[in-house]
Amino acid sequence: KRLVLIGPPGSGKGTQSPIIKDEHCLCHLATGDMLRAAVAAKTPLGIKAKEAMEKGELVSDDLVIGIIDEAMKKPSCQKGFILDGFPRTVVQAQKLDDMLQKQGSKIDRVLNFAIDDAILEERITGRWIHPSSGRTYHTKFGPPKAPGVDDVTGEPLIQRKDDTAAVLKSRLEAFHKQTEPVIDYYKKKGAVAELHAEKPPKEVATEVKKVLSS
Ligand code: AP5
Ligand code: ZN
Repeated sequence: KRLVLIGPPGSGKGTQSPIIKDEHCLCHLATGDMLRAAVAAKTPLGIKAKEAMEKGELVSDDLVIGIIDEAMKKPSCQKGFILDGFPRTVVQAQKLDDMLQKQGSKIDRVLNFAIDDAILEERITGRWIHPSSGRTYHTKFGPPKAPGVDDVTGEPLIQRKDDTAAVLKSRLEAFHKQTEPVIDYYKKKGAVAELHAEKPPKEVATEVKKVLSS
């Protein structure tokens, strides 16, 4: 299966991805995670992406299309993949269609994490992540066993630099202006399934399961 997850910051894309990945044996390609790793490693890509990310703006289409093109070539992604955070502009969506068409494939399903903006600040400001595994916690909605520490490795958790109420405002603005048109783009193709992303994680997981088995 080739899946796209679309939703505003904090809507649960990164939380549901590992569950879908395990159940369907798909590779998880999250442009935000890849960009953050590039920023941390100070690669040329990371140096170019850093400023836009810290301001909550989108990184240029060319940069992200380049990393997705590269990542999709991995043997583990040939059977199918979950795109988390990509495409985020109509240009990215068109380019993705072109890339897939060349391989004779296409996007099978787009999961729209529909949610009210008002809920997102609490989700974003309470998030803690384990950078190397991508495991995500929340102080209120899914706390780690010991505060500030990853359950599996015992390593410290961190907060993302862009997870402040102020930067969230720009991220939401970018979502409404640049990414919502992508949902319409896929709706015209009849590929979109709506999720009630305001529900607790387990209920959202059940909805995802239903969509993917139908
Ligand atoms: P990215 O990393 O993709 O960030 P985002 O889209 O803002 O999404 P988030 O990761 O914040 O949200 P999520 O939906 O994954 O939420 P999560 O599941 O963790 O992108 C970052 C930046 O990179 C962008 O701003 C841009 O600069 C750049 N970028 C990336 N891709 C790009 C592209 N294609 N083009 C251009 N630029 C790009 O959940 C959030 C919190 O809520 C967690 O603490 C979690 O535990 C909790 N939670 C999750 N689900 C629930 C639930 N159902 N109930 C209660 N709590 C929940
Ligand atoms: Zn995420």
